[in-house]
Amino acid sequence: MILDVKKITKKYNKLVAVNDISLQLEENEILGLLGPNGAGKSTFINMILGLTKVDSGTIEIFEKKLNRIIKKKIGYVPQDIAVCNELNAYDNVMFFGKLYGLRGDKLKESVKKAMEFTGLWERRKESPKKYSGGMKRRLNIACAIVHEPQLLIMDEPTVGVDPQSRNNILETIKKLNESGTTVIYTSHYMEEIEEICTKVAIIDNGELIIEGTSDSIKNEVLTEKLVRLQLEDEIEKSIELINDIEGVISLSISGDTVTIKSKKEIDNLAIIIEKLVKANIKIISINIEQPTLEAAFLSLTGKTLRD
Ligand SMILES: Nc1ncnc2c1ncn2[C@@H]1O[C@H](COP(=O)(O)OP(=O)(O)O)[C@@H](O)[C@H]1O
Ligand SMILES: [Mg+2]
Repeated sequence: MILDVKKITKKYNKLVAVNDISLQLEENEILGLLGPNGAGKSTFINMILGLTKVDSGTIEIFEKKLNRIIKKKIGYVPQDIAVCNELNAYDNVMFFGKLYGLRGDKLKESVKKAMEFTGLWERRKESPKKYSGGMKRRLNIACAIVHEPQLLIMDEPTVGVDPQSRNNILETIKKLNESGTTVIYTSHYMEEIEEICTKVAIIDNGELIIEGTSDSIKNEVLTEKLVRLQLEDEIEKSIELINDIEGVISLSISGDTVTIKSKKEIDNLAIIIEKLVKANIKIISINIEQPTLEAAFLSLTGKTLRD
């Protein structure tokens, strides 16, 4: 096991930033900590990293308490970008490589690899001052992966970056994971979490609300499904026909489209279509709304992630 967190709590005076959270992480997972601003994500990972003291609870990382040897197995990309503008990009990564004990050819190779990975090699001689926000972020990531950590912890690495950098960052995470790196990734963008994470933990107000795979969370939380049928005509008649089919909870009409809300566990789409076809009602299009983590979050907390 890479991480075993038991009942950790952190208070800032009366504010409970992290409340009694337990969480385990196996090797080679990408764990997404998902929650709105102020949920407690940074506080949680800062405790794992030993940057913030826990008030209570225990943390084991690589099956031990955090120590200097274990710290070398971890890469950390902080929420606030930290690069040195006095050094060029290459020397920034060199600096971190040396800090982690790399020397000689191994150091040079590792710096090149990290900068290629993050798409910065061509522009390594420039000062970070000339970099865009997204490139600075990628430089931060290059610094964090130069020593090939077994565990990479990234705090909101895509906030404020351009789409190209965002894609590079997500691809970098996937590639690192494929080569064996375990990743902890915090974000308030649920699309990103759905895209890359093998395990998701939703945090709100310092509490762990639910954890699992993106699919298992949606399955557990969302009890309804939506199907939209666009019809040529005879909307009113279609309503009558569909209304008492098993599983249908409610129907609504908007223009030429009927929206059917059904119980998730009842598969009634074939029956609905058959009834309409038999009554000679022509279906122009069928749209099945895919459940999202955003919908699960809304259902669990009563608010949207972007509040
Ligand atoms: N050093 C601190 N002193 C006082 N309050 C803090 C400190 N750090 C974080 N907090 C508070 O703890 C809560 C959780 O913050 P944080 O962990 O940064 O959330 P997130 O990373 O999910 O946005 C917030 O209400 C924040 O204002
Ligand atoms: Mg944060």
